[in-house]
Amino acid sequence: MTLPVPQTSPKDKNSFAFASVARRWPAIITNVIDAVYQSNALDKSATADKLDDGKFIIQCLSKLRHEMGRDQPLSPIDDQAAANVNIYNDELKHLETIGDNTWFTAPWLFAECYMYTRIRSYFSNSKYYQQYDPFKKQKDDTFRSSKVSVYQLAKAQQQLVKGITKPTEVDESVEIMFMEMLQMCLWGNATDLSLLVDLDYGDVQKLQAVGKKALEESFKKIIKNDIPTLWNYLSSKRGGRIDFVLDNAGYELYTDFILADYIVNCTPFADEIVFHPKTIPWFVSDVLPKDAPELIDQLINASDFFQERNDDVVELGQRWKKLFDQGIFKMSVLPTYQLGAQSNADFWCTPYSYPQMTEKAPQLVQELKQSNLVIFKGDLNYRKLTSDGIWDPTTSFQEALGPLSGQFPLLSLRTNKADVIVGLDKDVVEKMEKEYPDYRISGKFAVVSFDK
Ligand code: F6P
Ligand code: MG
Repeated sequence: MTLPVPQTSPKDKNSFAFASVARRWPAIITNVIDAVYQSNALDKSATADKLDDGKFIIQCLSKLRHEMGRDQPLSPIDDQAAANVNIYNDELKHLETIGDNTWFTAPWLFAECYMYTRIRSYFSNSKYYQQYDPFKKQKDDTFRSSKVSVYQLAKAQQQLVKGITKPTEVDESVEIMFMEMLQMCLWGNATDLSLLVDLDYGDVQKLQAVGKKALEESFKKIIKNDIPTLWNYLSSKRGGRIDFVLDNAGYELYTDFILADYIVNCTPFADEIVFHPKTIPWFVSDVLPKDAPELIDQLINASDFFQERNDDVVELGQRWKKLFDQGIFKMSVLPTYQLGAQSNADFWCTPYSYPQMTEKAPQLVQELKQSNLVIFKGDLNYRKLTSDGIWDPTTSFQEALGPLSGQFPLLSLRTNKADVIVGLDKDVVEKMEKEYPDYRISGKFAVVSFDK
């Protein structure tokens, strides 16, 4: 697919893409090295063979970091077991022909997806680390440090859902609550570990203030807000399903479950929710199939995991477990999925933008057409929806979606953490550029974009 505009690239030294390749990615690789080192060190019964296996992964990761720092060419990925490797390697050949195949010249989106696939290849090719998620500890630690918000939301959710009869019609109270739920879920995306490489866990709590007042304040920070159009469309829907293309594990996934729980129990808009996770460790904090049941276990065992007993949290976890058992909540990829197995969901971990879904994964488009609404969570999904293009910010969301527009009803809930942005009014752009020059990347502003 040829785009009408170029894609974000670190070639622009003023872009967030440049800062990201220069500073953030090396830090992410260093964290992976630390994780493997710790894993080796903590396994007191490890054989010499296993220790060597870990050491070899560390060597590969160090080499990758070195190549990045020297702006060397992206080398072909060597992982015969991986579903998408040929897609990456073919694109590399193309980039070579146009001289854009090094770390600081390749399109940012491609290089970032490539980086996670290449990291995955080291584990996939190993003997002892094939199922290892190097980001798991970070995901769990951050979720643990979200305790205050987790407990607060659990209490409110239990009060809301307990004893309620699912309505068949909607009134103003459903509308108000639905808007609040959407916003809560939107700001759940503010905590993303790939951006938090330098923050400590105290900062996480500040990012998650979920009180009513905080929500009112944050409403003003949604600089493009299609919630009213969404409401017009969704309020007439009865039964059927809603899909979530997930972003981050831990706190964000928790807020996704809260919204999903609200939809199936307190609105008539759907009876079933399908969650789409990633299939390889991705952008540090993204949800892998088994992260979902593990989060539910963490709630059910809150006394151990959060080190504080709380009945609401435990009951919430038990209720969600039941929703999965009853098939009301479903993962599109089973939690028993072994990393490296092939799956229809592999599309999410290709370097493709989502407008390419119509050409590259038509069966996925057909699948999503069965949904009343497909909710795309987070920044990376937004970058992929808009092809990470250097669009004029007043370009319509529909134009940026290209051939994906109109295929199925879709909603993007995104806090702004990357250069790309579309759908803004001209006066909003002028105001933001003047008053908040970093509004595209600071994570403090958001866009809610809907396409029918
Ligand atoms: O911009 C930094 C970044 O790593 C992007 O590459 C990516 O789009 C985003 O953060 C991840 O954020 P999210 O978890 O919201 O998709
Ligand atoms: Mg993410």
